[in-house]
Amino acid sequence: MNILILGGGGREHALAWAVKQNPKCDRLIVAPGNAGIAEIADCATLDILDGGAVAVFAEENAIDLVIVGPEAPLVAGVADRLRDAGLSVFGPSAAAARLEASKAFTKDICDAARVPTAAWARFDKAAEAHAHIARKGAPIVVKADGLAAGKGVVVAETAAAAHEAVDRLLAAPGSEIVVEDFMTGEEASFFVLADGEEVLAFGTAQDHKRIGEGDTGPNTGGMGAYSPAPVMTDTVIARTMDEIVRPTLAEMARRGTAYRGVLYVGLMIENGAPRLVEYNVRFGDPEAQVLTMRLGAQTLDAIQACAEGRLADARVDWADDHAMTVVMAAPGYPGPVEAGQTIGGLDTLPEDSRQMVFHAGTAERDGRIVAAGGRVLNVTARGDSLAEAAGRAYRIVDRIDFPGAQVRRDIGWRAL
Ligand code: GLY
Repeated sequence: MNILILGGGGREHALAWAVKQNPKCDRLIVAPGNAGIAEIADCATLDILDGGAVAVFAEENAIDLVIVGPEAPLVAGVADRLRDAGLSVFGPSAAAARLEASKAFTKDICDAARVPTAAWARFDKAAEAHAHIARKGAPIVVKADGLAAGKGVVVAETAAAAHEAVDRLLAAPGSEIVVEDFMTGEEASFFVLADGEEVLAFGTAQDHKRIGEGDTGPNTGGMGAYSPAPVMTDTVIARTMDEIVRPTLAEMARRGTAYRGVLYVGLMIENGAPRLVEYNVRFGDPEAQVLTMRLGAQTLDAIQACAEGRLADARVDWADDHAMTVVMAAPGYPGPVEAGQTIGGLDTLPEDSRQMVFHAGTAERDGRIVAAGGRVLNVTARGDSLAEAAGRAYRIVDRIDFPGAQVRRDIGWRAL
C-alpha cells in the first residue's frame, strides 16, 4: 500500500520508521518530512493545513492511507476533507479534535461524562480570573483555551505567576482561559486507538516536560520519554479505560462527533486513582518514539485497522521490553534557539535494530545534517530492562557531536 504521513518532527520520523518495517508498505511519502525522514521516505512539499490540497495530492499519488501526525491539520479539518474524498485516514474530525483545541470543551465533556479531573472555571474577563485566583491561592493552573504550541499552560507556583499568566493569556481580544485546581500525583501518558465503535489500549509512557534535570526550569515539548510507565499498572489502566476513556468516547458519540484516531490521555495518578490532565488528539512527541520503537511493524497494522473501522479484530502484542528516548535540543530551547550547527557522528553509529536516532528539527545542507529547530534529535533505544535501554541511548548521545546541545541526563529517573 501507498502511505502518506503528514508532519515533519521526531514523532513523524518514528511513525515513518515503523511503517517502513511493515512489508505492506510499498511507497511512503512524508510531507514535509525532515533530513532523517528523507533517508527512508520521499519527502513532499505540501500545505498540510489545506485539506483540499492534501486530498488532491493523495489522489494523484494513489495513496491508500493518510496518517496525520500533528494536531494542527486535524483542527483545521484535514481528516474531514480526506474522508469526504473517500480516502482512508488516521485522525479525528475537526469537531472531535476540539478535545485538544479547546480546554473548556474538554472540561465540559468531563463534566457531562463524569470523568475525574481537576475542578475548573472558564473566564474571558481578567478581573474575574484574578478574583478567582485570589480566592483559591497557589499552586494553580492557568490554560489558554486554544492551541498554543505548548506555551498555553502555566502551572503557577505562586499567585503572582498565576495573575501574570491571566494577563498574558487574555491579552488578545476574544480569548478565553480555563483556571484549574492544581493536582498532585505522578503524571503519565496513556494512548488508545478508537474507531468510533471500538477502543484499543495502545501503550503507556512517561514524558519529561521540564528542560532541566530533576524536573526543573521551564516547560518544553518534552525532553525525553520511556515506555512502559510503571505507574500505569493493569489496575490503573483498567480504571482509566472505565472511568475516563470509555465515558469520554461515549459522550463524543452521543454528541454526533464520534472519535476516530489515537487519543493521548494525559493523566495524574495518585494512590492508584487516575484523573485526567488533558487530551491530545495525536501521538505524543517524544512518546511516539518509544511506543513505535517497541511495536515496530505492528504500528501500521493497528493504525490501518483504526482508520478502516476494524479495531474489533485488531490486537497488539507487546514484548516484555522497555524503550527510552533522549532529546538533544538546540542551545536556547525552549526560548529562541541558535540553529544551523553541523551535527557530526551520525554516520558512524553502529547498525543495531535496538537503537535509532529519530530526527526532529534537522535539515540537510550541502551534504551535512544541521540543526533546524528547538528539539533536534531523539536518540531512542530498546532493551530488556529500562536500564539497558538507557545505557544504549546515552552511549549514542555521547557519540553525537552537536555543539551546545542540551540533554537531560536523568531521563527515566522515576522508574530507574
Ligand atoms: N510530549 C507531550 C506532547 O506531545 O504533547
